[in-house]
Amino acid sequence: MRILLLAVILNWNLLSICGDEENKDWWQTTVFYQIYPRSFQDSNGDGIGDLKGITSRLDHLKEAGVGATWLSPIFKSPMVDFGYDISDYLSIQEEYGTMEDFDELIAKAKELGIKIILDFVPNHSSDKHEWFIKSEAKDPEYIDFYIWHDGKPNPDGGRNLEPNNWVSVFYGSAWTWSDKRQQYYLHQFTKQQPDLNYRNPKVVERMSDVLRFWLKKGVYGFRVDAINHLFEVEDFIDEPVNAFDPDPKSYGHLFHYYTVDLNEVYDVVYQWRDLLDDFKKTHGGETRIMMTEAYANMSFVMRYYENDEGTRKGSHIPFNFLMISDLNGDSTARDFAHTISKWMNYMPVGFTANWVMGNHDNSRVASRYGVERIDALNTMLLTLGGVGITYNGEEFGMVDYKNISWKDTQDPAACNTNPDVYQKYSRDPERTPFQWDNTKNAGFSTADKTWLPVNPNYVDLNLKAEKEAEHSHFKFYQKLTKLRQHKTFQNGNIKVQALSKYVFAFVRELRDSDTFVVVINLGANAEEVSLKPFKTLHDKLKVVAAAPTSQYHEGDEVSTDDLKIGQYDSIILTDVNHINNFASKCCGCNMLLISSMLLAWMLALNNF
Ligand code: NOJ
Repeated sequence: MRILLLAVILNWNLLSICGDEENKDWWQTTVFYQIYPRSFQDSNGDGIGDLKGITSRLDHLKEAGVGATWLSPIFKSPMVDFGYDISDYLSIQEEYGTMEDFDELIAKAKELGIKIILDFVPNHSSDKHEWFIKSEAKDPEYIDFYIWHDGKPNPDGGRNLEPNNWVSVFYGSAWTWSDKRQQYYLHQFTKQQPDLNYRNPKVVERMSDVLRFWLKKGVYGFRVDAINHLFEVEDFIDEPVNAFDPDPKSYGHLFHYYTVDLNEVYDVVYQWRDLLDDFKKTHGGETRIMMTEAYANMSFVMRYYENDEGTRKGSHIPFNFLMISDLNGDSTARDFAHTISKWMNYMPVGFTANWVMGNHDNSRVASRYGVERIDALNTMLLTLGGVGITYNGEEFGMVDYKNISWKDTQDPAACNTNPDVYQKYSRDPERTPFQWDNTKNAGFSTADKTWLPVNPNYVDLNLKAEKEAEHSHFKFYQKLTKLRQHKTFQNGNIKVQALSKYVFAFVRELRDSDTFVVVINLGANAEEVSLKPFKTLHDKLKVVAAAPTSQYHEGDEVSTDDLKIGQYDSIILTDVNHINNFASKCCGCNMLLISSMLLAWMLALNNF
């Protein structure tokens, strides 16, 4: 009996030595794809994308190797901020379709094995939401649903002055006077997006109900909008002025110490995480996840993962915006190496990294970094490890359409300014319709006018053309999404190193598994580099994938010591002398074998 016990213990220990490589949850290794519904696919010819359109195009996600998609808001909305101003959290915007269309979308996604994530916008509703209308009318149930303030006494008499100097993210004062209620209300975004009051527990509860409603409909989680704006200080003091931005209406004019990143934000996030976990416990099924949007410094961002004591969990995926905020087309190899390490170093132990390359609020990757670096950025996104997040169109290199006139401009962040400066603020260039093919409106819509103009470059730059080409950004993207399914990419650790001003590399290693090296040249010149700084590599490496313009092809052998890498090239190499052994192919079998041998040996010794 004692011997049997010993064998079981040995077996158990060996299992844990082998690591957690088979135990990743679905979301930890998935590629997430952001769909901007208004611009993805129009099914009824009104020039606006819709749910049926998305359903009809889900195959594309499957083909790209994507496992989940988060949809920008699809709920009832006056569309002042294109869905981020919600007037009913529980119904679908008419121009996007019906609840039946949504159910069909869920069903088709399920069939294809794609998980649907919805955008959850808790900080503010639309001013047309019933809650706001009732709050403005001082209905006792809703009186404190929003942030109301009398304002400051006006020394010249007349209506009170605004409570303080706070400005909206979208330019101008963050306060608007309500004639009806004779008070100011706060809005951190447009004046049609009043901020909800999260110090009112009824608000938290109502929003939790919203989450439960959509979970029951079959979604796998939420991307949580503008989460760090949820609370403001209760004494409403002025924010300090940043002299570098002299325009008092600009968001950059103030240091936002009192309107973002307040401690109370995290408590709400942890509560919602509990809600998601409880839902799984009660209803079964796979993990429901939360991805949080907060443009904030690293310490603040990391607290979304868990609290300082490590006793409460929060967001599964606190968006990593470093590739958007800290790097651009001028960044060097060292900048990249440093930025990648920065996230890895800050992240608490045991959590999952994520890499966001673009979204509907920021210039597209190809425009930020230069079209020649599209493949380099997609390579990083898909091989650095953890979650990769792609904004629709960036899998095949769509670029911003910058020539949108003032007349055609839709984005409130731009419309709130003036014809001289609007382009600096506009997010329309990255929101233009998806370029499927070279037919009318790039295959997006049959309408004569689309809600935003289609980028005329669609004639040459479109998904169909890239699918038909022998080598293309999209084909390379597909190759990478396949490659990242390798257990080394899913579980291995990472070492990153700048090798010259513009060339850097990272090694992905996992015990008893293949080793991979990703080499990226950000520069316009071909170079020769040595991979010797990575001490574990052998002399010869084999190419497993190369960017479409690379001189290399799959199977080519290269030397670790003097590797030639072309301009803007990205290649993925594997160490030919370090290949799978028995243990890596069947870790469990190997352990079983060892423990059975031990058992047999002990039995023999004991002369059973
Ligand atoms: C962040 C969203 O991504 C952006 O599009 C929106 O305008 C603001 N939050 C306000 O909801």
